[in-house]
Amino acid sequence: MAKLPAKSKVPAPKEKGGFPVIVLGIETSCDETAAAVVTDAREIMSNVVLSQIEDHRPFGGIVPEVAARAHLEHADHVIGQAMKDADIGFNDIDAVAATTGPGLIGGVLVGAMSAKAIALAANKPFVAVNHLEGHALTARLTDDIAFPYLLLLVSGGHCQLLMCNGVGSYTRLGTTIDDAVGEAFDKTAKMLGLGYPGGPLIEQAAATGDATRFDFPRPMKGKPGCDFSFSGLKSSVRRAIELLGDDLDAATQSDVAASFQVAVADSLVSRTRKAIETAKESAPNLSHLVVAGGVAANHAIGDALRSLCTETGLTLIQPAPALCTDNGAMIAWAGLERFRLGHTDPLDFKARPRWPLDPDAPPAAFAGVKA
Ligand code: KG4
Ligand code: ZN
Repeated sequence: MAKLPAKSKVPAPKEKGGFPVIVLGIETSCDETAAAVVTDAREIMSNVVLSQIEDHRPFGGIVPEVAARAHLEHADHVIGQAMKDADIGFNDIDAVAATTGPGLIGGVLVGAMSAKAIALAANKPFVAVNHLEGHALTARLTDDIAFPYLLLLVSGGHCQLLMCNGVGSYTRLGTTIDDAVGEAFDKTAKMLGLGYPGGPLIEQAAATGDATRFDFPRPMKGKPGCDFSFSGLKSSVRRAIELLGDDLDAATQSDVAASFQVAVADSLVSRTRKAIETAKESAPNLSHLVVAGGVAANHAIGDALRSLCTETGLTLIQPAPALCTDNGAMIAWAGLERFRLGHTDPLDFKARPRWPLDPDAPPAAFAGVKA
């Protein structure tokens, strides 16, 4: 096996005496090939995201091998463009960060190998980033908030409530026991024949729909704890669509979409309310709820969470949609936060398809990497 350079030969985090720390971040864990350059002055010097939606649309969902091949084809151009947009060279950066999990392993390997190659060639430190930590720390890039804060992470692969205590320190208060919330949006859109990805299409259809027409269940509402479940809601929607048969015209599609969306929003709010109560027991001065992940782009869900925050005396932080969905800036920022605390990783750091932010939390029964 090739000998790796000794870790001590890679420059340690340095005091830059007024110069910004600059980190390149690479994200390839799902269906976006992304790279970005950020500074510790919270400047996003570049943020390039290449979506693979068109590659996956014919399949109605993400196909892991298609994703991995597309990352391999595009990663170098995307990284090159991010460096060009930032108008810097590899010698100007202080560290290279990449998502090393959790996610689709083929894609993760492409991004991690690209970052390691740059780190080796440019003699820069490599920082392995947990994709979920990227989502979790984005609010510190966009809004400079202090720890601790509560995070509701709602994406195509995850649905979790986490107390963010510090960089690398998270307490999971709740997780989905079956589907992720974005997955529920995508499956509902598919059942309605709206297309892929489902979240934005459901939101669009729901805008003109009657949210009271179908009385879908509010999963887990009133149950103890802060876990989520969406498979029962999905089954109810399926039954409603089957009963409608040929009566599923565009107006009815909108009513189903609106009724589904309000059921999801109600469920997220009720579980988050419980998490706020729990979080305040250990952090009475809790002041912020952060919502992140692709589903955080949903306006109805954002509005419902904002009302909850008003009611409970918290401030809602909802990063701009481009920073809520997968992107390189969140990985560069998480890498930067780790780097400035002195955390760098060896070039033989292994990719992790499953990598919970709270290693002490028990895995949820049917949630796979979503736990
Ligand atoms: O965070 P993300 O870009 O990728 C990961 O899953 O990590 O999230 C993608 C998910 C998809 O399921 C998509 O349907 C959902 O976010 N999504 C939305 C909206 N925009 C994207 N869900 C509801 N409303 C939206 N406006
Ligand atoms: Zn994500």
